[in-house]
Amino acid sequence: MYAFEPDPNQSKTELYRDLTEAAGAIVAGERDGIANMANLAALIWQFVPRLNWAGFYRMIDGELVLGPFQGKAACIRIALGQGVCGAAAARGETQLVPDVHAFPGHIACDAASASELVVPVLRDGRVIAVIDLDSPEIGRFDADDARGIEALAALIASSI
Ligand code: SME
Repeated sequence: MYAFEPDPNQSKTELYRDLTEAAGAIVAGERDGIANMANLAALIWQFVPRLNWAGFYRMIDGELVLGPFQGKAACIRIALGQGVCGAAAARGETQLVPDVHAFPGHIACDAASASELVVPVLRDGRVIAVIDLDSPEIGRFDADDARGIEALAALIASSI
């Protein structure tokens, strides 16, 4: 059993430090990527408040395919360049979208989603997956969230 307990009073910096530490501990010694992504999605869901979806899309044969996640059942395949996830994967850059309804081509998997943060996971300079966080609050994510999830993506890139 894992007993990671996020402290509700901690700062965002502390939260992402603890999340990254827990992520490192959970993937250490396990080489099954699906198992690791499943645990990482659960950790993000547990540590990061005010989300309605959190998980992975994997790059397979040039398109994004749904991976382990927490939240409602979601779109399975996303073409490169489509939606927020497809933009992150095509550009290899984090997409921080304060209002998804103002993002051209946003793919609404859960009608409750209002803002979104998508971070590419890079291995040997190539995008192998994206980490997608959705929130029902407009403007939920800021640069600290982006840096925190980017640190997580860098840490787990060789474990998924
Ligand atoms: N909204 C995303 C699609 C994935 S779901 O949010 C889980 C997008 O526009 O890429």
